Amino acid sequence: MGRKILVTGSADGLGRMAAESLLAAGHDLVVHARNEERATVLRPLQARGAGLVVADLSDRDQVRRLAAEVADLGPLDAVVHNAGVWSGPAVMPVNVVAPYLLTALTPLPRRLVYLSSEMHQGGRPTTSGTDWQGQRPGSYEDSKLFVTALTAALARLHPEVVVNAVDPGWVPTKMGGAGASDDLAQGHETQAWLASSDDAEALTSGGYWYHRQRRTPHRAVHDVAFQDELLAALARETGVELPTAAG
Ligand SMILES: NC(=O)c1ccc[n+]([C@@H]2O[C@H](COP(=O)([O-])OP(=O)(O)OC[C@H]3O[C@@H](n4cnc5c(N)ncnc54)[C@H](OP(=O)(O)O)[C@@H]3O)[C@@H](O)[C@H]2O)c1
Repeated sequence: MGRKILVTGSADGLGRMAAESLLAAGHDLVVHARNEERATVLRPLQARGAGLVVADLSDRDQVRRLAAEVADLGPLDAVVHNAGVWSGPAVMPVNVVAPYLLTALTPLPRRLVYLSSEMHQGGRPTTSGTDWQGQRPGSYEDSKLFVTALTAALARLHPEVVVNAVDPGWVPTKMGGAGASDDLAQGHETQAWLASSDDAEALTSGGYWYHRQRRTPHRAVHDVAFQDELLAALARETGVELPTAAG
């Protein structure tokens, strides 16, 4: 049976590829673009039945409005938090604050997938000095370490949800650039599999995956003290806490 799946940042790159393949596999897709102009490239997917949501994830008010719209969509089977930026002031807002807020402000789906990166291994395991609001350029490495630790924290706090992070490899999208050496065709597969498959492995939680294999993330990812520091910093910054397992 088709699952209801939201993929953020689906106008281009790996998000687009994941959305296309999930739609082709018969799932009920909700695609997302940053604005109405970018949404025009999603018309072919809409024509095939996909729903559309629009929000600039670097704008916290728009993320909150998006969360309300997503909540109104009814229960989702999976959300793939794919949208991301490589550099500039939007790094922390788009790569960390938006997925955190969307997760905290919408009913938890059965499965959550967050896009990480091998580069998270170079992140600093501290939130001290982090510019969450994007007043200055952010560290991509830190942002991916944070979102990978968020994934592990959610898996720990919400055993009822299947929560995983994916390193898609260095692939030639707009972000990866033409010189990227990994296989583009495989770049979206693991996240689509984790979002939709009934394979026993795809239903395990708390993993950091590369090409359908679990890998060992930075040691801070499973450090509960660091996870708690991160969740506290995000809650302080946004005024929104993650739901507890009971609520
Ligand atoms: N490519 C790689 O080698 C690589 C490696 C490791 C991890 N990743 C991760 O994989 C994910 C997808 O990357 P990609 O390679 O597919 O990158 P991409 O081709 O640049 O696509 C990124 C997507 O995110 C959207 N996005 C960016 N900023 C946004 C904002 N403020 N509001 C709404 N949407 C926004 C983009 O929208 P527009 O099209 O409108 O810009 C686009 O749809 C990212 O999280 C990235 O960090 C990629």
